[in-house]
Amino acid sequence: MFKSCLSTTSKITFPLSILKNTKNYSVKMSKFDLPERFKGNEKSIWVEYSQLALKYKPLNLGQGFPDFSAPENITKALTNVTTSNNPLLNQYTRGFGHPRLVNIIAKLYSKLLNRTLDPNNEVLVTVGAYEALYAALQGHTNPGDEWIIIEPFFDCYVPMVQSAGGIPRFIALKPKSTNGPLSSADWIFDRQELESLFNEKTKGIIINTPHNPVGKVFTLDELQFIANLAKKWNVLVISDEVYEWLVYEPYKHIRIATLSDMYERTITIGSAGKTFSVTGWKLGWAYGPANLLYNLQIVHQNSVYTCNTPVQEAVAIGFEQELDRFGKPDCYFVSLAKELLPKRDYMAKFLSDVGMIPTIPEGGYFMIANWTALKDKVRLEEETDGGKDYRFTKWMTKNVGVQGIPPSTFYSPEHKYLGEDSVRYCFIKEDKNLEKAAEILMKWKSQ
Ligand SMILES: Cc1ncc(COP(=O)(O)O)c(C=O)c1O
Repeated sequence: MFKSCLSTTSKITFPLSILKNTKNYSVKMSKFDLPERFKGNEKSIWVEYSQLALKYKPLNLGQGFPDFSAPENITKALTNVTTSNNPLLNQYTRGFGHPRLVNIIAKLYSKLLNRTLDPNNEVLVTVGAYEALYAALQGHTNPGDEWIIIEPFFDCYVPMVQSAGGIPRFIALKPKSTNGPLSSADWIFDRQELESLFNEKTKGIIINTPHNPVGKVFTLDELQFIANLAKKWNVLVISDEVYEWLVYEPYKHIRIATLSDMYERTITIGSAGKTFSVTGWKLGWAYGPANLLYNLQIVHQNSVYTCNTPVQEAVAIGFEQELDRFGKPDCYFVSLAKELLPKRDYMAKFLSDVGMIPTIPEGGYFMIANWTALKDKVRLEEETDGGKDYRFTKWMTKNVGVQGIPPSTFYSPEHKYLGEDSVRYCFIKEDKNLEKAAEILMKWKSQ
């Protein structure tokens, strides 16, 4: 029956009133323009560079996802859940988070934060970390509120602040020197400059540790400095910790919510996609004090309402299993970083061999590399984009066959120049693909 309704041969008749309206009045298109609050944010790097990859089929080291299989326990869990005898596991579940999942998330972070989290009021499950960020910013922004954003930043922070009526204020991480080799620890913020951004209109600061794209793992001293300012000015901290388990020895991830009197003003965000190498599952969460999470719940309830039930059940099973082997070498929370460490070092070596200056990340799975020593080998004039890094990455995709991301996309317009000498590559890729990238780049260099 459905089919026949949609059949191309069926005759569609419009009510007379619609026909009359179309005839008598011209449609004023401006009425249907993009609402003001989204203007300026029409372009998405991910849409543009995914299309580029589809067209030129380069070795893609651009977008941040693994090209190898997710751990079997979690993918099997999802298969079992969808075919289980419990029919309700394929139906809607509790809006603010599937009970089994919020219980295990609360248990995990209660242990990590050394305080008891209430699963029903202090955890919200969202469509990826993206939705948690969105709900936090929509739920805590009044027109004119200022949010401090550290550059380079994960690109959605700015449109999310702006579409909520907020005003982003920027401070850039800058490398102490531009001569290699560099560590992400060398990328620091100017403390006086950060302090000068706080004022009566400040609603909060967004931090990201471990950091995308630099790989910086914020130190206790840096977090304490930010925490002291947050307390002094009575503002919120949104802490994007999606790479919390991807930290390389000897560095340690510190949760700002664990610092003295900080839980009360911090919304921490995580991602099952990043934690379990299943970015396509798009499941995330926020945790924090009930009064702050309440605002996120309202945004979530009136937009998404509830997340995918079987994925939540499978992620809950994954967490339960990891918690059982917590602290052991086979726990995925630590084994993935161990697996990635040689990939990171391999990438750093081949980028250096090619002539770039990579920043060795302490965490995450991205590497920033300065490519300017190779400028005579690329014909930037063949590309039309404004940013040199856009031209470099596009030219490399089309002519050399290796795709990276232009880091200037992670800066405000006035600071874009800070990212233009670099490219961002992702190293959570199979060894054979990293080897192929090395081979392609070395061959290109020797031409
Ligand atoms: C820093 C950062 N935050 C948030 C996200 C979004 O995570 P999710 O895929 O869970 O929405 C990403 C994804 O790349 C990220 O790098």
